[in-house]
Amino acid sequence: MIHARTADGILRLVIDRPAKKNALSPAMYDALTQAFVKAADDKAVRVIAIEGQPGIFCAGNDIATFEAAAGGDLAPIAAFLRALANNPLPLIAAIDGPAVGIGTTLLFHCDSVIATERSYLLTPFVDLGLVPEAASSLIGPALIGHHRAFSLLALGEKMSARAAEAAGLIHSVVEPEELAAALSQRAAFIASKPPAALRASRALIKGEPAAILARMEAEIAIFRQRLASPEAQAAFRAFLSRGSS
Ligand code: COA
Repeated sequence: MIHARTADGILRLVIDRPAKKNALSPAMYDALTQAFVKAADDKAVRVIAIEGQPGIFCAGNDIATFEAAAGGDLAPIAAFLRALANNPLPLIAAIDGPAVGIGTTLLFHCDSVIATERSYLLTPFVDLGLVPEAASSLIGPALIGHHRAFSLLALGEKMSARAAEAAGLIHSVVEPEELAAALSQRAAFIASKPPAALRASRALIKGEPAAILARMEAEIAIFRQRLASPEAQAAFRAFLSRGSS
């Protein structure tokens, strides 16, 4: 599930499904989308902070729902992605452990990411017969360069927290016991700024969301076709039947 709590100008969103490594279900996307949409009009929110659980940030989309979604219901994911692109508030994240699939690509929309040394980014889209989403195919090369984006997003090569820090995707690396405090400190610092000026500055830095929204739609259209492909269906079955033979 997703816990959402606002205090001192900070909306904290906590991904809490440790038994499935924080894999995101349709209901969890809906909760995230609602939280983002509500926060945009809530004067009490100055910054959004996303975090996972100790040892796992997010294992990406729930692969069981991918297998079932071969018919094409990507509405909860698509709505969440649109909410990410349209979000006008500063967005930060703290990660400890794996950030997989959309657990990585949502970080491309953040303004600061804090990670522990044992964290890593991984997007096995192609190995699952899929393609990158969340406009990562557009933002990725611009942010970290074509070669690193290809290695991460197309080849599914793991990127360590330190490598992501060097690439400009992670703001700082801290010890696990310092992560919560580091996130709170960063969020409080952001919340201390004049909110209207900060929103306007962030919008200038990010640019118009139109190109990002258009790329998200283009990716999702291909993603939808790929979901039903024999390559993808075989990969989902292989993951879900691990250990059962
Ligand atoms: N969707 C559905 N279930 C998932 C999941 C996902 N994305 N990721 C993990 N799980 C489930 C596992 O099936 C397992 O369930 P079970 O205990 O009922 O068998 C449980 O979470 C624990 O996962 P496990 O793989 O044993 O944990 P781990 O610590 O060895 O590895 C990960 C953690 C995140 C590295 C690994 O689970 C993983 O690679 N997950 C898939 C990530 C992925 O491909 N996501 C989609 C990207 S598009």
